[in-house]
Amino acid sequence: MKGRILITGYNGELGSKTLKELVSIGKSVIALDINDPKEKIHSVKYIKDTIANKQLINSIFNDYHISEVYHFAALLSQTAAQNPELAFEINEKASKNLIDCSYNFGIKNNCITRFFFPSSIAVYGPRKIENASEQDIIKPTTIYGNNKLIIEQYGSKLHEQSLFKKIGLDFRSIRFPGVISYDTVPCGGTTDYAPQMINNAKKGEKFECKLSPNTELPFIGIDKTISSIIDIMDLEIIESKLRAFNVQEANFSVTELSDFLLQKFPSFQITYNENKSFQSVADTWPSSLNCKRANKFWNFSKEKDFEVFLEKIINK
Ligand code: SER
Repeated sequence: MKGRILITGYNGELGSKTLKELVSIGKSVIALDINDPKEKIHSVKYIKDTIANKQLINSIFNDYHISEVYHFAALLSQTAAQNPELAFEINEKASKNLIDCSYNFGIKNNCITRFFFPSSIAVYGPRKIENASEQDIIKPTTIYGNNKLIIEQYGSKLHEQSLFKKIGLDFRSIRFPGVISYDTVPCGGTTDYAPQMINNAKKGEKFECKLSPNTELPFIGIDKTISSIIDIMDLEIIESKLRAFNVQEANFSVTELSDFLLQKFPSFQITYNENKSFQSVADTWPSSLNCKRANKFWNFSKEKDFEVFLEKIINK
């Protein structure tokens, strides 16, 4: 039986682009979000509701044969810190329920439900490290990082249980660094300063940065983000107990980014107003990621030079 794909949070930065990509390769998609679609694709079935609605989630799995889930609905790091209870409800409780349904209906339908979970560099901590690999110290200090880690571990546990039965859940996760898009400017995250700064520089607007000039973080462009999601979900099997993978295209400090933008847009103006809730988070996240496993499993390649990466972003 040909299955359907369920996407949650399809209006977001990653969800909207993944939805389009899946439709373009002929997949049959059910798309769930708390808001109405910004644009409608004829073949997609849209549902407007919260992922915290357990009954609805159950009925989606009951009514359709869901073979793959892409679960993007979440509160980002800064929004989660301001709404810890809602972060627990959405990022943790509702995510666990979605994983449970994927696992239980996989068993019921005698198949494996493939599940994609966008994790984050927020799972690292408490100290900033360089070239972080997946097995490095993982003691997140933020609510968001803890939510992400708990879901990585929960999904991995049910994945492992499924291995013995050969039915249930196939859990796959990528730990994303800051994502930079060409056409949307995100907010609610700690890494969002970079796409915001790029956007202001392009528009000739001033930028007030909440992070200190020497703060270094890893980043990836939206195209590589989406292709990584498609690639990891396309793999027939991933022979690894560790279900989370690091990806990055480039890492740079705030100053490196602003210097680059000043070369391109000489009238660009940046001021600093360090904000503790942003800085204290960025200081616990890695400055760069080791992507060897992603390279091994789906040939993930990264830019060697951050300026080449930024050049591509601003010229798009
Ligand atoms: N980009 C996210 C954030 O800053 C991290 O996953 O919240």
